[in-house]
Amino acid sequence: MSGAGGASRAGWEHAATPSGADPIRLADFEALALAKLPPGTGAYYSGAANDEVTLRDNTAAFDRWRFVPRIGVEIRGRDASVDVLGRRWPSPFMVAPMALHRLADPEGELAVARACAERGLVFCLSTVGSATIEDVAATGAACWFQLYLLDDEGRNRDLLARAEASGYEALVFTMDAPILGRRERDIRTGFSLPPGVTYANIRRGALKRDDTYGDDEFKPSNTWDDLEWVVGATRLPVVVKGVLHPADAVRALDLGAAAVDVSNHGGRQLDRSIAAIDALPAVVDAVAGRAPVLLDSGVRRGTDVLAALALGARGVMLGRPVLWSLAWGREAGVARALDLLAAEVHLALGLAGLRSPAEASRELLVHAPG
Ligand code: FNR
Ligand code: LAC
Repeated sequence: MSGAGGASRAGWEHAATPSGADPIRLADFEALALAKLPPGTGAYYSGAANDEVTLRDNTAAFDRWRFVPRIGVEIRGRDASVDVLGRRWPSPFMVAPMALHRLADPEGELAVARACAERGLVFCLSTVGSATIEDVAATGAACWFQLYLLDDEGRNRDLLARAEASGYEALVFTMDAPILGRRERDIRTGFSLPPGVTYANIRRGALKRDDTYGDDEFKPSNTWDDLEWVVGATRLPVVVKGVLHPADAVRALDLGAAAVDVSNHGGRQLDRSIAAIDALPAVVDAVAGRAPVLLDSGVRRGTDVLAALALGARGVMLGRPVLWSLAWGREAGVARALDLLAAEVHLALGLAGLRSPAEASRELLVHAPG
């Protein structure tokens, strides 16, 4: 059967699961990671703001959509790749910017970037990452850099210049986190940076729990003026991350953004924000084809990716499962997670009767009855 052939290339039906404990879906990595990580790190990675309503809703919202697949389509030779800002992604996802991968593994961001490099997937390094801009680029991965503005124009220019000089291909300007949401798991664990883990590209010595990042180092607000400054200060295409309102997507594009990312920061900022997948359709309508729309927050399944594509996203960013898989199995663990998702996307496309992501349209989805 051609479907089985596709799956066997991905290897999952032959995956050894002697103990039944090996991860066979992205959600499985969470418990495996939490069993290995110090409680403070596990809480920092998995936790979100306040009552974590949005955290839960990000995945529940995907579950409220149902597919109406098509039959009779020749799906052999289907191709899951997409074009985003001048690069072809082999599968419609990339790795989201996330702080401090070295809390999970000594190789941290470098391990994740290597797994991406091997697969042609894009890796996004965070301003609060634990590996340098240059070392991440040296893995050979296609890289994006995520910017949190520091409260010093010269140092912001320096970060941008380093990313450009190292061959980064896009700049992600995250606008939903000028101050941090209140992550109550971190308050309970008293989370702080363990010895040996540092912010590799900035000075800051400790995570601030529930206020601004700010002390002396971060700019404690992000305005549209800041976006204009960023667009003018870099020659890289700028992706505005953290868009939920359609008017903000339009504003970002009007000010020169090359793409927008629909995201609620994985529920870590304003709790009870709308789920990303529920915010997507209105943003896509407002953007009206002017630029690619990406999405993150709650992506755990190939069918989540398919739903995002059907609602008009060009691709998605994968967040927490990357950190969990890194904690569980180092670079090989990340490779496992990325391959699982790619295989699920390929399978979902085929079962939906699609030959490419471009064929996914809103016709494919209805809201779950009731
Ligand atoms: C993040 N996220 C994030 N975003 C960003 O722009 N810069 C950053 O430094 C971080 N740091 C960060 C750390 C951790 C531990 C997490 C879990 C998340 C948000 C991230 O890019 C993405 O929006 C969410 O992770 C998406 O939610 P899910 O899919 O991971 O639940
Ligand atoms: C976080 C910041 C660093 O979500 O973006 O923890």
